[in-house]
Amino acid sequence: MQILDGKIVSQAVKNDLTEKIAQLLRENKRPPHLTAILVGTNGASETYIASKIKNCEETGFKSSLHRFEENVTEELLMTTIKKINEDDEIDGILVQLPLPKHIDEQKIINLINPAKDVDGFHPVNAGKMVLGIPTYIPATPYGIMLMLAHYKLETSGKHAVVIGRSNIVGRPMSILLSQDTAYGNCTVTVCHSRTKNLKEICLQADIIVAALGKPCFLTADMVKENAVVIDVGITRVPDASKKSGFAIKGDVDFENVAPKTSYITPVPGGVGLMTIAALLKNTYQAYLQHSNNH
Ligand code: GUN
Repeated sequence: MQILDGKIVSQAVKNDLTEKIAQLLRENKRPPHLTAILVGTNGASETYIASKIKNCEETGFKSSLHRFEENVTEELLMTTIKKINEDDEIDGILVQLPLPKHIDEQKIINLINPAKDVDGFHPVNAGKMVLGIPTYIPATPYGIMLMLAHYKLETSGKHAVVIGRSNIVGRPMSILLSQDTAYGNCTVTVCHSRTKNLKEICLQADIIVAALGKPCFLTADMVKENAVVIDVGITRVPDASKKSGFAIKGDVDFENVAPKTSYITPVPGGVGLMTIAALLKNTYQAYLQHSNNH
């Protein structure tokens, strides 16, 4: 069993970006600027955003944050996005999800300028991805593809089982793994809450991507010997022994699953770090496109 180490791979991506930003500064150019919109005080969202800001600073990106109370109106969010769309000094916009129930999430996403949509959530970018046209790929599936590429894992002709069909992870992941590209060409099965015989399907998988958000869901009896296991889960569970009062748990019962696998991502230290690295890569790409147009 070998660990797919998100620390090593994300650091390699970030080192490359740090060097590129340093070169921009030497040329007296401004650095790429990522702005985030955060509504309310959801603990997981706060953690994501803090990490995104920290990583921007470490690599030399400019970052900014628009914070709103839980009861913010749709109108105010829409006005803010319109202003950001028009701001020539901002390259990437990220609206942290989930948004409160009274806000129509899709309506907000639809308003983001697709050229600044570094999450790849806008229908234009999601559509391009499905068609295999180069665009911003949602950061978590993109980060996983970078991880597969770093370790040169063979995917062609393999059976990949993706558990979860969210727009953020499961669905784009299933599309990327099935595309006719390097680190694609899998035969993909998408499983979800209505799937019957989940265990039998998982037992046929050469690659499993667990992205359902249930701690320790994937157990050793569901995994074939030498499978590759990618754990996308990052659920907070109460843990009195931690200073924060919680521990981060993946969707995989790591302790018992890991010995059966050929490769596995840990939590923390796996996919989460890759998500951030991929977001920064998308933001740098947005900057290059943006600078070409101005
Ligand atoms: N919420 C959970 N994951 C993500 C993500 O990758 N991007 C955004 N914007 N919100 C999220």
